[in-house]
Amino acid sequence: MCRLVLVTGAAGYIGSHCVLNLLSNNYEVVVIDNSSTSALINGQQLPESLRRVELLANNCVKEFIFGDLCNSDVINKMFKKYRFDAVVHLADLKNITESIEQPLDYYRNNMISIINLLDAMKRFEVFNLIFASSAVVYGKPKYLPLDELHPTGQSLTSSYAKSLYMTEQILQDLCTTDPKWTVVSLRMFNVVGAHNSADIGEHTTGVPKNLMPYITQVANEGRPELRVYGSDYDTPDGTGIRDYIHVEDVCDLILKALNKIISDNWSQWYAFNVANGSGHSVLEIIDIFEKKLAQKIPYVLVDRRPGDIGHSLADISLSKQIFNWEPKRDIHLMCESAMNWQKKHINGFDCIHQNVNQ
Ligand SMILES: NC(=O)c1ccc[n+]([C@@H]2O[C@H](COP(=O)([O-])OP(=O)(O)OC[C@H]3O[C@@H](n4cnc5c(N)ncnc54)[C@H](O)[C@@H]3O)[C@@H](O)[C@H]2O)c1
Repeated sequence: MCRLVLVTGAAGYIGSHCVLNLLSNNYEVVVIDNSSTSALINGQQLPESLRRVELLANNCVKEFIFGDLCNSDVINKMFKKYRFDAVVHLADLKNITESIEQPLDYYRNNMISIINLLDAMKRFEVFNLIFASSAVVYGKPKYLPLDELHPTGQSLTSSYAKSLYMTEQILQDLCTTDPKWTVVSLRMFNVVGAHNSADIGEHTTGVPKNLMPYITQVANEGRPELRVYGSDYDTPDGTGIRDYIHVEDVCDLILKALNKIISDNWSQWYAFNVANGSGHSVLEIIDIFEKKLAQKIPYVLVDRRPGDIGHSLADISLSKQIFNWEPKRDIHLMCESAMNWQKKHINGFDCIHQNVNQ
């Protein structure tokens, strides 16, 4: 039977890959995005990412709503029109540095959106939710690898991390008070790479805040050099170590989690790590690209960024066991697919940004 899912933030990086995976796996999908960080070409019916998703899937979304989750009328209208089996919430603002500089914007967007969404879900009795959480809720690691029992909410330095932590608290309270709710928080580590077609990928504007698009833009001579933030961390080469996961592996897990919460009579709140279970330093990633491309990647070592930690690494045994899931794409494939996307799209989707509030 075809299930109907609402995907928020669907035009974004993970959202577009997730919608493609759902459309390819017998789900019907309604999507909402305000295009605050994704690209919408003026006059087009769909954001460019979703237009390409429909071509790749040879299938269409049921409806694209160009709307803001901070507007409860928009959400209520959607829930009145459709009877959803579940919601996948991928619409948080996620830039750590920006969130430190603009806390109010981050709290407004991330907290009002989730409250509006949960209010509507409760009113219209849709109790299944997948929430895109992040490893940032663990704060500065007390031990590694990080498992799901590691304390959360301590030593959080950015408003982004705090907004996700607070959201997890709200979700847990909700599930404690009402057993009808089933909520899965997927704590994603560093999501990278692109669909193997290289037709969709991570669209960035300005200087990329994440390593992978930054390196690929330098490699393609779109930027003169890479800035490596922090070279005095307590790691073997002094640069930050992260646990990278391919975006398609993330979407496979979202699909498995959806299948489970819709059909398995789960109830409660659960948290799962989404990562590869192996860490790579910035210099190691640069080395992989240099070998693959047979060219030097120019870089400079600069100060640490506020809010960053030195070493992050996940224990993914729980996700593997519960969902029978295994990340299939290694770091080489992650780098390769990120490079292929960048080569094909020097300027991302290369469209004019048009925000719903403009
Ligand atoms: N990319 C990662 O490495 C990563 C890691 C951990 C967690 N996450 C989480 O996964 C989710 C998706 O991340 P992404 O990398 O795809 O980000 P993204 O910025 O590419 O996508 C987010 C999408 O949400 C939309 N959006 C934001 N606020 C909205 C609102 N109020 N109403 C409607 N749409 C809105 C944006 O326009 C954008 O298209 C985020 O919530 C993020 O916190 C991402």
